[in-house]
Amino acid sequence: MKLSLLGDIQLPRLPVPPLENTMQKYLKTLQPLLSDKKHDEVKKLVDKFAGENGLGRKLQLYLLDRREKLDNWAYEYWLNDMYLNFRNPILINSNPGMVFPPRKFTTILDVARFTARLIDATLDHKEILNKKALPIEKATSRELGQPLCMAQYYRILGCCRIPGKNRDSQYIAEIVQEQDHPSEHVIVMCRNQQYCVPIQAADRGRLTEEEICAQLLYILNDAPCQGNIVPIGILTGWKRTLWAEARDELMRDEHNERNIDLINKALLIVCLDEALPPAFNCRLQKGGKGFNAGNRDESNLAHQMIHGGGSRCNSANRWFDKTVQLIISGDGACGLCYEHSMAEGVAVIQLLEQLWKHADSLGDPAEVLSLNISHLPPPERLEWILDANDMKRIEEAGEVVDNLVKDLDFQVFRFIGYGKSFMKSCKVSPDVYIQLALQLAYYKLYGKLTATYESASTRRFLLGRVDCIRSASPEALQWVMAMSQPKEDVNNKKVTFHLVSDDRKYELWCEAVRVQTQEMIDNILGMGIDIHLLGLREAARETSPTAASALPDIFTDESYRIANKFLLSTSQVATTMNSFMGYGPVEPDGYGASYNPKNDQIIFCLSAFWSSEVTSTSRFAQSLEESLNSMQVLLSRRNEA
Ligand code: COA
Repeated sequence: MKLSLLGDIQLPRLPVPPLENTMQKYLKTLQPLLSDKKHDEVKKLVDKFAGENGLGRKLQLYLLDRREKLDNWAYEYWLNDMYLNFRNPILINSNPGMVFPPRKFTTILDVARFTARLIDATLDHKEILNKKALPIEKATSRELGQPLCMAQYYRILGCCRIPGKNRDSQYIAEIVQEQDHPSEHVIVMCRNQQYCVPIQAADRGRLTEEEICAQLLYILNDAPCQGNIVPIGILTGWKRTLWAEARDELMRDEHNERNIDLINKALLIVCLDEALPPAFNCRLQKGGKGFNAGNRDESNLAHQMIHGGGSRCNSANRWFDKTVQLIISGDGACGLCYEHSMAEGVAVIQLLEQLWKHADSLGDPAEVLSLNISHLPPPERLEWILDANDMKRIEEAGEVVDNLVKDLDFQVFRFIGYGKSFMKSCKVSPDVYIQLALQLAYYKLYGKLTATYESASTRRFLLGRVDCIRSASPEALQWVMAMSQPKEDVNNKKVTFHLVSDDRKYELWCEAVRVQTQEMIDNILGMGIDIHLLGLREAARETSPTAASALPDIFTDESYRIANKFLLSTSQVATTMNSFMGYGPVEPDGYGASYNPKNDQIIFCLSAFWSSEVTSTSRFAQSLEESLNSMQVLLSRRNEA
């Protein structure tokens, strides 16, 4: 059945894959992760679950029925599981950060002018949204031209995540179609203070870029003069339940309640930051050099965008719940921190790149803006009414944030050996190629594979978000074993050689590529297993009279936990500019690895935690570089043959 979402575009509903297919694939996924004995045991659990009288069949019917009734049967399950149920801080653990090529600012007027231009471009974009006139994107491969769901593009501006004691919720701005000029404001954060800047009023229309610039200039001058500033924004980087309780307390006062409402409803937040010290995350960066802001390298810039640098730097100059926080600092660093529950990076990047290109296309703002003294009243600085308990919470939240910030091992690794062009010349999907390189890099370090998550867009379906491409296949394992260097047998102090010919390595490579490509296609066509398994698990909860105790064995068995412990959490985050997006790991002993494939290089953002005894982004970057180089050698020989 096809349904309409926006205008005349018809989108199919997300399918519920056949139960047998998902179960077979699930068992295959577990093969490289479990011993043979354990795998046999799990097979029995799966057979019982999916067999003729198994609970799986009933749950499958439940999901098929749900599919008939809802626009997207999996959406709520997925949103809760992936984001809203999450109780740890969303800073580092969930919110990605994006770095744009730095600007050259000489004075604070330059900062204000550039920022005003971005805000002005945001209003242009909002007008398109209000008319529901955003061009519908089309799939560029696999069923070329198929329209993609645009719903998440309408949930970026004016939206905010709301902390809850057990589960968060979302404030989603209504798209106002009737009025041409609804009232709009942005919140500008500067030196841990929030200023509300109205940028469009129903009675007077839009502020000009010049007027917005004057408001920003006022803020940049006013903020440093204020004393006794309470870093209230740091609360948004706290554990979700604690932040929810703190917020409830704050909201007892109507001033605070109004402030929070203004923040929720703002189109976006602009954070006018201080530069992080150059020594922050000081380390030798691997790979190509990339860009700098003053004497700060790309990794330093990425830290600023992901978490702000701690309570003594910019982490309280944030509202981590807000969907879009544009970040600009006086040394030219520019970027974004975004709350992930509303939309995938792809949609946010599309918006941000549009704003940046608009700002660039008008030339140097200094030349086209003549700044007159503004006749507008100055923007309102939000005042908070706080008691001793609020202050204590702010302090505690600061400690949690600072520890998390200190623990993040993060680096931008530009692999400059080659890029998409070479991979395409090998007749391999670049995404598949890079996923296999990540598997090889992991195997070289740990001598085994691990459950790997790669986000696959399911926007071909109504309200589609993502499913999980699982790259640690048995075929990938065969290939990485063949590719790995001879190992020293530590016990016998002997060197054991695994001699595998290049022809054999190539055969195994082709098989790994074939399987990985099919896994990618299955996912983007709605036949992934993770959403389906989640659906079956939630259906069991909903239909069982005794809730969690009655979950089927396949979901309580240790194997399910292993399958979902993603020590490698990856995603392709492609940009059209020389920008990149990165995020933290999802497990204490895991890696986050985003990649942005360019024609002649790949920009990786690698993350881990220093507190882990087993991870290191430096070692991972090294292993990745070696892996990509050895793959080039293998494949170049074949190309030449
Ligand atoms: N031989 C030669 N070229 C090939 C090829 C092959 N066998 N297979 C693919 N290519 C080409 C494609 O035509 C495409 O060309 P283009 O650069 O001219 O457009 C290019 O290689 C890239 O294709 P591929 O690597 O297969 O990836 P993709 O762009 O289709 O992306 C996913 C694959 C899974 C990443 C994508 O479908 C997706 O889901 N993206 C969303 C990820 C996401 O949500 N990220 C954000 C998380 S916050």
